[in-house]
Amino acid sequence: MLKLHEVRAGYGRIEVLHGLDLTVRPGEVVTIIGANGAGKSTLLKTISGLVKPSGGSIEFAGESLASLGVEGIVSRGLVQIPEGRQLFGPLSVEENLELGAYVRRRRGRPLGEKLAWVYSLFPRLQERRRQQAGTLSGGEQQMLAIARALMAEPSLLLLDEPSMGLAPIVVRDIFATLRDLNREGLTMILVEQDARIALSLAHRGIVMERGRFALEGEARTLLEDPEVQAIYFGQRKAGNVRAMEPR
Ligand SMILES: Nc1ncnc2c1ncn2[C@@H]1O[C@H](COP(=O)(O)OP(=O)(O)OP(=O)(O)O)[C@@H](O)[C@H]1O
Ligand SMILES: [Mg+2]
Repeated sequence: MLKLHEVRAGYGRIEVLHGLDLTVRPGEVVTIIGANGAGKSTLLKTISGLVKPSGGSIEFAGESLASLGVEGIVSRGLVQIPEGRQLFGPLSVEENLELGAYVRRRRGRPLGEKLAWVYSLFPRLQERRRQQAGTLSGGEQQMLAIARALMAEPSLLLLDEPSMGLAPIVVRDIFATLRDLNREGLTMILVEQDARIALSLAHRGIVMERGRFALEGEARTLLEDPEVQAIYFGQRKAGNVRAMEPR
């Protein structure tokens, strides 16, 4: 479904991604874990078209993304949830959702049907549909960011640290919904600081170090890898971390 071949990208003259190969199959959840500054967000932005690659190729559903802008990429079903959520604070929950559907306004399912679908996934948003997005709690804002992305009817969803700043119980809720979405067939690439919950959701994990893939494997294998545990499981205190049953 997605194929990266020797992708290089960076900012100005500074190269951040040093030639990455990645294949994501339909229905897969792939998680990218790694230290701050490893290039995880840059990788997602390069896939979604926010950062232009300086080398290599990216193919999505058999088509090269090289000549497409961000909107063209979104309209083909490859949607990123922006870093920091980037909601329209003064607008209501429902207006934010309607904006998410904008790129698919001419095709796709009717708006009312999509709203009903995302409200069934996140009932809290339905209760607050008239509330200004900027006044939602952090967890509700993350739910809205995910729901807004779903309104574009993605087949591949890119998520950059959905657990950021949220209480463990909220994180667990959101990840349970992500698992349901994957069971419905949605493919995902998930970047996470919380390696344990990310590997619990994912089929496959990749450890990224300084712009390169240092380690790849089945999520279950990485979950049990002592080195991965020592380096990447240390960020939350015991008690918080058993947020989800692994696959
Ligand atoms: N807009 C930008 N301009 C210049 N350099 C940038 C820009 N965005 C990121 N970088 C640099 O690129 C490198 C990789 O950053 P990136 O945000 O991809 O890392 P990350 O793995 O997502 O880190 P984190 O876990 O902290 O989110 C860093 O050295 C960072 O300083
Ligand atoms: Mg990042």
